[in-house]
Amino acid sequence: MKEINITTSFTIFDNLKELPEEIQDLMNQAVDIRKKAYAPYSKFRVGTALLLDNGKIVLGSNQENAAYPSGLCAERVAIFHAGSVYPEAKIVKMAITAASDTNPTTAPIPPCGSCRQSIAEYEIKQDTPIEIYFMGEIGEVYKSSSLKNLLPLMFDKKFL
Ligand code: THU
Repeated sequence: MKEINITTSFTIFDNLKELPEEIQDLMNQAVDIRKKAYAPYSKFRVGTALLLDNGKIVLGSNQENAAYPSGLCAERVAIFHAGSVYPEAKIVKMAITAASDTNPTTAPIPPCGSCRQSIAEYEIKQDTPIEIYFMGEIGEVYKSSSLKNLLPLMFDKKFL
């Protein structure tokens, strides 16, 4: 028997102002798109902005449905859009923000498990880490240097 230890680490910023201007801009675009989320059921709005290596920015917000599982998270709306429109481009950075209509969201909101799996597919495809920044509405911002850092022991194509 043996035990393995997998290290995962994050950089925590006290607030958005501590980050480089480029990341502030990206996060502010995520905030703008978050406000346009279609979230009549959860009242929990999520916005995502992706910076691609061709300089384009791709945005997404969560899109809910009366048949709940038919809705989609903001991260996957953005990443699938980027994969559709710019299939050759690499995703360099990703900014995520979430806010509830009913109570203030100060904790940084990480991408859910399904989104992590979906983002992993693109990180592996492009063979370059995606820097991920996530926050609530205000307060701390977490930075992960890659998706892999958020999903140790990930399932990917090498197992097929
Ligand atoms: N949601 C996201 O957009 N991203 C996540 O990573 C977690 C959850 C959305 C899905 C649903 O519309 C709402 O937040 C509440 O779960």
